[in-house]
Amino acid sequence: MYYCFPIDLKEMIPESRLENVLFFDEDQDCFFDCNHKKVDIKDKKVLIISDIFRLYEMLDLIDEFEGNPINSIEEIEQVKHWPQFIETFHRDVSIITGEYFEDLSFLTYLFEKYGVNGSIFLKTVEKDFHGVISIIDAVEPNSPFRKAMKYHLQDEFIISPVVTIDQDKLGKKEYRAFIHNRTLTSISRTLHKTYHQIPEQVIPFINGIIAELPDDFPSYFVLDVASINGKLDILEFNPIETAMPYLYNSRMAINTGDLTHQNITAIPEYKSIDCSFDGEEMPSSPLFDDIPGSFSHDYHKALTGENKLHPALSSLFAREFVKRKQ
Ligand SMILES: Nc1ncnc2c1ncn2[C@@H]1O[C@H](COP(=O)(O)OP(=O)(O)OP(=O)(O)O)[C@@H](O)[C@H]1O
Ligand SMILES: [Mg+2]
Repeated sequence: MYYCFPIDLKEMIPESRLENVLFFDEDQDCFFDCNHKKVDIKDKKVLIISDIFRLYEMLDLIDEFEGNPINSIEEIEQVKHWPQFIETFHRDVSIITGEYFEDLSFLTYLFEKYGVNGSIFLKTVEKDFHGVISIIDAVEPNSPFRKAMKYHLQDEFIISPVVTIDQDKLGKKEYRAFIHNRTLTSISRTLHKTYHQIPEQVIPFINGIIAELPDDFPSYFVLDVASINGKLDILEFNPIETAMPYLYNSRMAINTGDLTHQNITAIPEYKSIDCSFDGEEMPSSPLFDDIPGSFSHDYHKALTGENKLHPALSSLFAREFVKRKQ
């Protein structure tokens, strides 16, 4: 199997891992190895490692050269729609369209389930937005939330109760696991620069989820779990192609035999940053509330009356959004 990265990530990959790595250059429209030699991918399995901007372009190119992507577009969509295939343990998570917020029986249901002072946790399947929405805003037709939603009646949203994720001195107890071929290959807390270990019980919990996956669910994905009121639960699944690796994660299936980081300073994938034990992290990347056409953009505008445009990102994202909404 090949791992295929966009060329600009080449510097990130350590020499020792370059053997099965291919690069993709948008301008040259071909795949080549670390020595810049063209590689024929016909009938070869390829795991794309990318960002959302280039994912579809890379899938098209693999198709053109008759390679086999590890996940097809349909399988990537299946991972994004995980609540339709997999049940969480301690809370309900489901997918709805924006239209639900125009439906009186749904609003009545929300009101009865969460109460007038309650809230829901809502995010878009396309991942441009997540946040807590009060029931008052959800049911009040003139709230900024509902005004923005009018432009997104066909969009898909993942809805769940608001939970409090347990914390310790390093922050929220959230764990990101990379799964290759239904095998747990790495786990990290959602930290980029802080050495840490993983509680033993996280491993059997994740292996239990893998064992219970429906047969037709993809075998390569990223799984986020968290400790909520002292119990582990699924937070979400993400496509392995575009998920960000945290400190101990690797996008390649590297068997270190040390999933809980007993060797605490050994990082499986190359990181060029200085790590510490004290939990000082870089600021988290902003949500993409600057993508024209996205729910997050319209919600921000409805809340503040302002367009929030980030020119560099917005044009790229706008292109993806427009393409995929067609
Ligand atoms: N039901 C919930 N209630 C409260 N907080 C939550 C809930 N679900 C997730 N969170 C918190 O919000 C963060 C973002 O949620 P989630 O990962 O599900 O959305 P996302 O759109 O994938 O965001 P990101 O790209 O940051 O991962 C999580 O990392 C978690 O800390
Ligand atoms: Mg997430």
